[in-house]
Amino acid sequence: MSVPSLPADLAALRETAIDVLRDNDLGDITRPSPTLYPHQWLWDSCFIAIGLRRLDPGRAAKEVLSLLRGQWPNGMIPHVIFAETSDFYHAGPQRWRCDQVTTTAGGVQSTGVTQPPMIAEAAVRIAAMMTPSARDAFYRALFPGLLRFHTWLYLERDPDDDGLVTLVHSWESGMDNTPAWMEITRPAAPLGVRALRRINGGDALDALRRDSKEVPPDERLTSGDLFTLYRIVRELRRAHYNFREIRRSIVPLVQDVAFNAILIRANEHLTAIAAEIGQTIPAWLWRSMHRTREAIERLHADGTYYSRDFRTGTLLRHETISGFLPLYAGVVPEDRVDEMVKTLTSPRYWSRFGIASVPLDDPGFLPRCYWQGPVWVNMNWLIADGLERYGRLDAAENLRQNTIDMIASSGAMFEYYSPLDGSGAGSNRFSWTAALLVDLLAAEH
Ligand code: SER
Repeated sequence: MSVPSLPADLAALRETAIDVLRDNDLGDITRPSPTLYPHQWLWDSCFIAIGLRRLDPGRAAKEVLSLLRGQWPNGMIPHVIFAETSDFYHAGPQRWRCDQVTTTAGGVQSTGVTQPPMIAEAAVRIAAMMTPSARDAFYRALFPGLLRFHTWLYLERDPDDDGLVTLVHSWESGMDNTPAWMEITRPAAPLGVRALRRINGGDALDALRRDSKEVPPDERLTSGDLFTLYRIVRELRRAHYNFREIRRSIVPLVQDVAFNAILIRANEHLTAIAAEIGQTIPAWLWRSMHRTREAIERLHADGTYYSRDFRTGTLLRHETISGFLPLYAGVVPEDRVDEMVKTLTSPRYWSRFGIASVPLDDPGFLPRCYWQGPVWVNMNWLIADGLERYGRLDAAENLRQNTIDMIASSGAMFEYYSPLDGSGAGSNRFSWTAALLVDLLAAEH
């Protein structure tokens, strides 16, 4: 599909994006990047499908449907479904050993945790590009698995029925080293990490990690934090990935604000999909879904929204980009929106490249370090959508245009970008940047 009105430089950039997507295409799935992320990731596939629909809606539908191969009998859709093609990955099947506790629908290997539920959003965006009969077939193929996933989120992860879903690993939030998660996770550091920290010998762990072979270590989380996240995986494994057992372990439990905001929007889409194909949502689930809309209000304080410690009920008062996701969910009361948009568009967060993941005046802000400061294209995309939803059309338009300009000036599909100078960091052939660029160009030009 060509986009004839694009100026030559943007047309060339779009070709670069398509080339990245082609390169990372493994058949019915797309890996996020060639070596750092060689498998299928849940929310990556959703953002990738949102771009692929502009090129080939049928292929985009396959990207999303293929996530159901990894679905567990209890309904969970895992955050990574392992492809057979690579053994490089630093947190591969051996770390999880999920085949000892369960099987997956497609007999594939997976991790034992989930990721933000972007599937329903991707599905409705893809369906909008389909003929009525293709759309009907797509929804019918997806709906049963999608309903079981949302059912699992509430049955397994909202044990006290307060409406907020609880996460058991920062990898479930998709924002691995975001400050709130790191603060609550660090006390669970393995003894070795704590000992090395005391003698200032943290660097000794660097040689043991595999993820920093493609990307400079200072653009990833620290080795101490990475080995702490591995330890959490060990604890989850010992608890058989079962929330009742996990609850009795040292694993930090977080009601993550971004995840719950994305869930609210996904629930709306799920309800719309059900109505369109004449299916019903069980009444109890409908009530739980509704409760999430109300419960997110309990995460509001100081003009923003925070994640919450499930065990203590305490808000994790770290201001980050996650606090703006309730705009995307459409749950921010109108009289609060101007203040939030003012903060969002202030130099603390907003640059001509988009939104910093951590405010620039935060003592832990690092412009090129993963979720500790960089601009992420998927966050710009989600928040632009939220701004549009609230009628802040100029801000939405600026954010989308800034995102395109940022990618254009770097000339490559980086995983994330410095909010200070727009330079790229992380993996440099990253699929969701490429896919969302294709989507933004189609929408904006
Ligand atoms: N983002 C994690 C990684 O680095 C896992 O999802 O592999």
